[in-house]
Amino acid sequence: MTTYKDTPERYGPITRFLHWGMAVLFAAQFASAAAHWALPRENALRETLWSYHVTLGVTLFILVFLRGIWGLLNIPSRPPHSGAMGQAAVAGHVALYALMILVPSVRLLAAAGGERGLTYLGLTIFPPRETEIAWTQVPAEWHGEMGWILALLILGHIAMATIWHHLINRDGVLKRMAG
Ligand code: HEM
Ligand code: HEM
Repeated sequence: MTTYKDTPERYGPITRFLHWGMAVLFAAQFASAAAHWALPRENALRETLWSYHVTLGVTLFILVFLRGIWGLLNIPSRPPHSGAMGQAAVAGHVALYALMILVPSVRLLAAAGGERGLTYLGLTIFPPRETEIAWTQVPAEWHGEMGWILALLILGHIAMATIWHHLINRDGVLKRMAG
């Protein structure tokens, strides 16, 4: 019988859909951040790539919670991570989740306490305030730095999955998410 849940041999279709779907969306999000960082203000490509940063950032924020809940529900049946390497892999995944939540959270907090407010897909999430709440702006100063740390962690994650597991160890770890 086909199951939508994860099994010890492989991640199920819902986990895979969330993993690969979010991987594509993160690539687009980092493209917009890179354009913001590297290109001059009046550049048309920068404008285009930057235009979706907030909407896509909020979407990723919602998706990581759905993915996290689905992951927790599947913990008893997920592929095992044994030994020191397995524990290190779990620690790496926890760090990815922590940053996937923290990076958008600090900007959302700033929007909640800020003068410009926040709309998402036409819905007012935080109305503009007449006066800014100063402390809500402080963690957002680290948004970009934490975002780039997340990008480095993702690059390390991809290298571990493809070079270490698939090419060197040939242990089938990549296949349980991709094959
Ligand atoms: C997981 C989601 C997100 C990621 C990975 C991400 C990543 C980044 C990165 C790496 C930068 C630095 C760009 C530079 O160096 O110029 C940045 C800047 C920025 N992001 Fe995000 N972002 C996310 C979500 C959001 C959300 C939800 C908002 C708004 C509510 C937002 C608003 C901004 C703003 C205003 C800047 C420019 C100022 C600054 O660097 O703090 N981002 N983002
Ligand atoms: C080409 C890109 C990517 C490849 C080849 C890849 C590969 C993999 C593989 C093989 C696994 C299973 C590892 C295991 O069972 O120990 C995995 C899990 C995971 N990956 Fe990726 N990955 C990619 C992109 C990403 C991105 C962009 C993120 C976002 C931060 C991410 C976050 C995670 C997390 C958190 C897990 C743990 C399982 C889960 O909760 O979904 N990956 N990845």
